[in-house]
Amino acid sequence: MKQTQNSPAAIAPLVLPSVVKSLVRGRAKEYIREGICSVVDAHDRLRGLSGDLVPPCRLRVRVGCFLSFVRVQQYRAVAAEFLKHMGVLVDLQSTMNFLDIGCGCGQIASALADMPGFRGRYEGIDPDIEAIEWCRTHVTASFPAFQFKHSDIANAQYNPGGTLQAERFSFPYESASADVILLKSVFTHLRLKPLTQYLREIRRLLQPGGTCIATFYLLNEEAHRLMGQGKSRFAFPYEDEGCRVADRITPEYLVAYEEEDVRELARQAGLQIRGDIQFGSWCGRENFLSFQDVVAFEAACDLGNG
Ligand SMILES: C[S@@+](CC[C@H](N)C(=O)[O-])C[C@H]1O[C@@H](n2cnc3c(N)ncnc32)[C@H](O)[C@@H]1O
Repeated sequence: MKQTQNSPAAIAPLVLPSVVKSLVRGRAKEYIREGICSVVDAHDRLRGLSGDLVPPCRLRVRVGCFLSFVRVQQYRAVAAEFLKHMGVLVDLQSTMNFLDIGCGCGQIASALADMPGFRGRYEGIDPDIEAIEWCRTHVTASFPAFQFKHSDIANAQYNPGGTLQAERFSFPYESASADVILLKSVFTHLRLKPLTQYLREIRRLLQPGGTCIATFYLLNEEAHRLMGQGKSRFAFPYEDEGCRVADRITPEYLVAYEEEDVRELARQAGLQIRGDIQFGSWCGRENFLSFQDVVAFEAACDLGNG
């Protein structure tokens, strides 16, 4: 039978991908992920890969790429790699106070707790209540210097029903209380107003001489060029206020900022970028430190009093 332009058979190839995509984005995706994760957990238990500090698969895959973090080894390798980068900037074994904003299921906390000779204190905070409860029962229970707080901050990707607005959020910690503040893969999910507020909060929370290590997807000449050549793992086709996003419906799915804008926002918050930004491989770079771009912030020098 001949297909007309509007026949169901002709339209199906156009409509089906988006129907399948939205189904797979919704409940169906959750069921499939849960099913795979149950099998993975059973397998990990049998192979002796799960330990006290290894969160179950369903929590791991919430904080990173499903295909990577479904594998315990990969999840731990990413944490170890991040500790290595942090170790270049700060002395991990001294008695420092760490604050991990958006700590998820404690990927960095577990790696630090496992590190021989670690003598610091660690605070983690996240809107994911299940992840925080897991951290309390598995990390704090054995390592009381590691504390976790839940805060019901709204995020369209991670906590759509949240009751607190990130753009007005004040972290429940004293000013100048943290030597090291971490935001690993958090600013990659925050829009402009929350980012602006968090930078101000970081300035308030950092002790003199302290460092904030945060990851981003930074847009600069090289990133734009590689993206234009189709080498990037992600595209950020949509404009949002002061940033670009990968998904129009859920902007917080992935967020990218112009490097120059981040420098300016940091300056306005009283921060400056220390040293060189370590640009990542996400956009297809061949020389890189990590996958995301790693930025170290410190309090800006007060040149006004000189
Ligand atoms: C990609 S995960 C990274 C988790 C963790 N930092 C890691 O690397 O394993 C992003 C985390 O940020 C948290 N998050 C989302 N919005 C947030 C916000 N406004 N403030 C703090 N954390 C947030 C999410 O709940 C999630 O745990």
